[in-house]
Amino acid sequence: MENTDNILEIKHLTKVYQDETDTGADPILADLNLKVGRKEFLSVLGPSGCGKTTMLRCIAGFETYNGEILVDGVSAAKPGTDRIMVFQDFNQIFPWQTVEKNIQYPLRLQGIKDKEQLQAVSDEYLKKVNLDGVQKKYPHQLSGGMKQRVAIARALAQKPKIILMDEPFAALDAMTRNRLQVELLNISSQEDCTFIFITHNIQEAIVLGDRIIVMSKKGEIKVDEKNGLKKPITPATPGYGEMWQRFHDALEV
Ligand SMILES: Nc1ncnc2c1ncn2[C@@H]1O[C@H](COP(=O)(O)OP(=O)(O)OP(=O)(O)O)[C@@H](O)[C@H]1O
Ligand SMILES: [Mg+2]
Repeated sequence: MENTDNILEIKHLTKVYQDETDTGADPILADLNLKVGRKEFLSVLGPSGCGKTTMLRCIAGFETYNGEILVDGVSAAKPGTDRIMVFQDFNQIFPWQTVEKNIQYPLRLQGIKDKEQLQAVSDEYLKKVNLDGVQKKYPHQLSGGMKQRVAIARALAQKPKIILMDEPFAALDAMTRNRLQVELLNISSQEDCTFIFITHNIQEAIVLGDRIIVMSKKGEIKVDEKNGLKKPITPATPGYGEMWQRFHDALEV
């Protein structure tokens, strides 16, 4: 029987980047099938160029493709506010808007006009990402970690069903990265949202993921494993070393 608690279903996803000069281009993703549970935190590992970002862009509705992507059983071929992407790039928030306006802007687009309501929502989500007191600052006045927090707050404030995160912490220093991992773990346990989180960092995948997949060439899913370790997970958690090694080996081949 179908598991009805899957929020996302990817069926036979095949993606070929069209090139006018080359009619016989190879698929980047070939017949990818994946189901993601409601409120699940899915970590995605895979070597560079295997198609992780392409898969995320297809889910976001930014690409054309063959096959089907369903969110709650409905085609997600077009972009929608039920799926929000967060990128690695610190410049994903608008430099000409204050922090709070950055968070409020997509809400305005969704039709929320009431100033007090907008203020309350931006305050609430800035608090969630531990960024109280920077409401009126501009992005250039923030550190990289703070900018990523704003991007996460902006995504969460839209109350998407799925947040698609493409290496959001990859450009941060190690300490800030660890701190943001802990914060994201707390946030994800509280929000009614599904997370798909791409990373090259095995530790990050294990610390955050309820489930971890390893992709290989053409979007083949080589490993698909529920994370049975007890959270919060550190390298000292029993079973961590073996798990790390399994993913490392799967990435090597
Ligand atoms: N717009 C595009 N046009 C043509 N080919 C593309 C395009 N975007 C990506 N590709 C190709 O698709 C393949 C997969 O790219 P993708 O960015 O999805 O990989 P990735 O797994 O996210 O890699 P990384 O870990 O380096 O971010 C690569 O071979 C890349 O060159
Ligand atoms: Mg990528």
